[in-house]
Amino acid sequence: MTVLDYLRTVEKLSGTKEGCAEGDCGACTVVLGEPAGDGVKYRAVNACIMFAPALDGKQIVTVEHLSDAGGAPHPVQQAMVEHHASQCGFCTPGFVMSLFALHHAATPADRTEVNDALAGNLCRCTGYRPIADAALAVCEGWAADAFTAGAAVDAFAAGAAGTARRIRALDTRDRLELRHAGQTWIAPRSVAELSEVLLLHPDAVLLAGGTDVGLWVTKQHRVLETIVTLDAVDDMAAVEEANGMLRIGAAALYEDVLERLAAHYPDFGILLRRLGSRQIRNRGTIGGNIGNGSPIGDTPPVLIALDATVVLRRDSAERVLPVAEFFLGYRRTALAPGEFIVRIDVPLPRPGEQFRCYKVAKRFDQDISAVCGAFRVELVDGRVHDIRVAFGGMAATPVRVVAVERALLDGAWTEARVRTAMDVLDTALTPISDMRASADYRRMVARNLLCKFFLETASPKARTRLENAA
Ligand SMILES: Cc1cc2nc3c(=O)[nH]c(=O)nc-3n(C[C@H](O)[C@H](O)[C@H](O)COP(=O)(O)OP(=O)(O)OC[C@H]3O[C@@H](n4cnc5c(N)ncnc54)[C@H](O)[C@@H]3O)c2cc1C
Ligand code: FES
Ligand code: FES
Repeated sequence: MTVLDYLRTVEKLSGTKEGCAEGDCGACTVVLGEPAGDGVKYRAVNACIMFAPALDGKQIVTVEHLSDAGGAPHPVQQAMVEHHASQCGFCTPGFVMSLFALHHAATPADRTEVNDALAGNLCRCTGYRPIADAALAVCEGWAADAFTAGAAVDAFAAGAAGTARRIRALDTRDRLELRHAGQTWIAPRSVAELSEVLLLHPDAVLLAGGTDVGLWVTKQHRVLETIVTLDAVDDMAAVEEANGMLRIGAAALYEDVLERLAAHYPDFGILLRRLGSRQIRNRGTIGGNIGNGSPIGDTPPVLIALDATVVLRRDSAERVLPVAEFFLGYRRTALAPGEFIVRIDVPLPRPGEQFRCYKVAKRFDQDISAVCGAFRVELVDGRVHDIRVAFGGMAATPVRVVAVERALLDGAWTEARVRTAMDVLDTALTPISDMRASADYRRMVARNLLCKFFLETASPKARTRLENAA
């Protein structure tokens, strides 16, 4: 049962709406609260693709909870009224909840932040200008005042310490195991426990954020007999730097790794900001993006270009595999039964190297790539000392294109050699045509992305020559 169905059919809280049932429209947005220090961290999520047991140990806030004891609207609701930000109102509870989470962010929001926070909410009738105005009025001004004055922005903030205590008190440290109507939900509490559980249940569905798996249920109507969730495996959610690597736990949420990755690889940060929406990134993980074996996941080509590795574990044995070798065929991966991804190790930038990645999709926000290209080059005295070229959306798996790398390695980083490599790329990959893009379009985009990488990394002189030719 999804959180959305639970709210509407069991709790009879029908303020939360269903639009798409696939995480795309934001009508079902609710906010989860988790203790953070003395306070509570609030995150907007899509209730339609989150399973009800995943609420364990969390506070859930829906649109019904916002007005105060006297029935007065919450400041974000009031701002929506004052800025005429609602017409039919179907999208409105979702927008309000996204704004509620933004209102509780650690820093005041500017327009970019507002656009990002609302990118996962669709409105068909009002238009976004009044909604963005309401957001700016309530999240820019009020939050700034509140944080400089140290005042609480609402009753939730005022009661945060007590709420944090009550949420913590729910935690019994016992492993949650639920059984109902032939279905089982198991939430191991450590990597070791997870290994044991998966050995006992090798056919179980391993669930991280559920932003892919949720749709198996809501769209494909699959019945998942046994689900083993990473929700409580805290040691797989850590992100740390060690031995020249950024070690990202496979259960770390996108929103929790974004800034760390962006600090080392700004382009990776830009790409992650365009992965799904804030709601999706508040549940989704890089582990899930690799584990799903999709040819069009955004992070695998980037990780391949960065020479990242995955640490896999089965029972108590661990092995390390380059991300490039993890994908065996269309949706086939190197994972053995009972094996899982523990973490992803991303090398920190090496001196002298340049890295770029580009996502080409039909929309800027909230869209899957038609093609994603990732490139890394190390030049020594103008010559290519090391290079990686990787693509998503160009084959049955994310791929490293060694033929193109060979065409460029150990020679000058020049227009003529890049043009030769673009021709090699033409024959090296055979993309498919589907509803996102035709094979010809994909091939042309891939060529052009390599050219763009050259333009952005070559000397100004080489750049001018190529631009003039174009
Ligand atoms: C509205 C929407 C927009 C999206 N936009 C994008 C986008 O722009 N770009 C993009 O790339 N994707 C996008 N996605 C897809 C999805 O969000 C990502 O693939 C995400 O990374 C999946 O992570 P998750 O934690 O939710 O995985 P889950 O759904 O929990 O799992 C996905 C798969 O990975 C497996 N898995 C999970 N964790 C592990 C592990 N530790 N070890 C082994 N296997 C594991 C699961 O068993 C399952 O097969 C979108 C999805 C939605 C619904
Ligand atoms: S109902 Fe559309 S995102 Fe959930
Ligand atoms: S007000 Fe109708 S969908 Fe937004």
